[in-house]
Order: sequence, then C-alpha cells, then structure tokens
Amino acid sequence: MVRYLCLIAFTLLLIQLGFSKPEGQILFEKNCLKCHGENSRKPLSYLKREYKGKPDEIKELAKRCPWARGLSDKEIDIISKWLAGVK
Ligand code: HEC
Repeated sequence: MVRYLCLIAFTLLLIQLGFSKPEGQILFEKNCLKCHGENSRKPLSYLKREYKGKPDEIKELAKRCPWARGLSDKEIDIISKWLAGVK
C-alpha cells in the first residue's frame, strides 16, 4: 500500500515538473505576448535569439518603454532573465 502511495506521489511530482511553466514565461505571456506574438515584427523567437545571455539589455529597454508600466522591477527582472535564458 505504502509503495503505491509513493508511486503516485512520484508520478505527480514528475507531472508538476514537466508541465509547470517558468514564472518568466507566464509573465511574458500575460504582459508582452500581445505585441510580441509570432506574427509580430519582433516575435518571441526573435527576442530569445537576439537577447540570449543578455538580460541587462532587455531590462534597459523595458524600463524606457511603456510596456513595462505596471510591472515591478522584480517582474521585469524575472521576464528578462527568462528571455535571456539565464537563471
Ligand atoms: C504595446 C505593445 C508592446 C508590448 C505590450 C510589449 N512590447 Fe516589446 N516592443 C514593442 C514594439 C512596437 C517594439 C519595437 C519593434 C521594432 O523595433 O520593430 C518592441 C521592442 C521590444 C524589444 C527590442 C527588440 C529589438 O531587438 O529591437 C524588446 C527586448 C522587447 N520589446 C521586449 C518586451 C517585453 C519584455 C515586454 C513585456 C514586459 C514587451 N516587449 C511588451 C511593442 C510591445
């Protein structure tokens, strides 16, 4: 019986790990995707490629532009790092 419970708990853990989105992605989808969808001039795939490893550049842009209005520094930070692919 205990063995089954362990198995179930382990399976749930795997599902959680596999399907939960990073916070940066959730924030991006909520705040940025409406203008940076795949049909836009600067789609997400472009941003990810262009700003790989450069979270500070994204942060600078985000601070100067109206998109960041309403987002906290922390949220900008999380989005920037997610886009740049750094932790
Ligand atoms: C209201 C529409 C809008 C929203 C919302 C928006 N953006 Fe943008 N973003 C733009 C436009 C327009 C440009 C300039 C595109 C161009 O140069 O052709 C741009 C440019 C950028 C650039 C510079 C791209 C480059 O290399 O020229 C970055 C980085 C960026 N956005 C990130 C973000 C992030 C992160 C968010 C969410 C916090 C966001 N944007 C939300 C409209 C938006």
